[in-house]
Amino acid sequence: MGRIGELVIIKFGGSVITDKSRPLSLNSGVLDSLSKTLSIHNSKKVIVHGGGSFGHYYAKLAGLNTKCKIVEDTNQVSLIRKSMLELNMHVINSLSLHGLNPYTITPFFWSKNLNNLKTLLYKLLSQNICPVFFGDVLPCTRGFKILSGDDISYLLCRLLKPSRMIFCIGVDGIFPSSNMDGPIIRELDYKVVRKVIAKQSFLDVTGGIARKIKIAYKISKLGVDVFFVNGFKPHDFLKALNGEYGVGTCMRGVR
Ligand SMILES: Nc1ncnc2c1ncn2[C@@H]1O[C@H](COP(=O)(O)OP(=O)(O)O)[C@@H](O)[C@H]1O
Ligand SMILES: [Mg+2]
Repeated sequence: MGRIGELVIIKFGGSVITDKSRPLSLNSGVLDSLSKTLSIHNSKKVIVHGGGSFGHYYAKLAGLNTKCKIVEDTNQVSLIRKSMLELNMHVINSLSLHGLNPYTITPFFWSKNLNNLKTLLYKLLSQNICPVFFGDVLPCTRGFKILSGDDISYLLCRLLKPSRMIFCIGVDGIFPSSNMDGPIIRELDYKVVRKVIAKQSFLDVTGGIARKIKIAYKISKLGVDVFFVNGFKPHDFLKALNGEYGVGTCMRGVR
């Protein structure tokens, strides 16, 4: 990465930092432990977080997903955004308490100009600031759509070519099927990706685990190592931050 040294992009899953079974409920202890672990790792970091029981919950009520759609009651759009800003406030409070110097960047700033975003990110990172992004609701040609934290992660990987990308999810790694039985897949080779995706169920507003695996595959094709680790296990998270293979699921960058 030259000028800014080792860079890691981390996605805090909404299912990790919130309790998806109850609207507007933060897993503050988990968020705090993620921030703490980040603070002891010596690298530049960019954080992305999902919506969980905040934005995800309201997006589901509004019937919105990653496809552009007309919304009759636009108050629902406003509620999605409001809840995401609330969740983001919790995230940056926690990162701040651990000395990470968070700086939130909302998609409006950059969705039309990725070159500007790259310049901004280099400026922030070189001055010890940690950029923070979140999945959001955006106007589109006719209506609104969700831009997921996973999609943002891909864009950032394309732009910054980090040392690695880490998805903190709610389980120990990727299982062969959505029943989540059987052993974790330690290495998700591109040859098995298709087979695994076919076995997943699609229940989530932003596409769930199958879409996440597809995005991870795209990221690996950029030459970036991708890790899926259990966000509830700080020790696993730290190992992934260090780029140690054998924890969670790894999809090695195609170089
Ligand atoms: N085959 C699978 N392997 C791993 N996790 C799975 C699988 N099928 C479903 N899941 C669920 O998908 C979750 C991750 O996807 P998602 O909830 O969209 O994450 P996020 O919190 O990042 O939005 C895991 O925490 C797990 O509960
Ligand atoms: Mg998700």
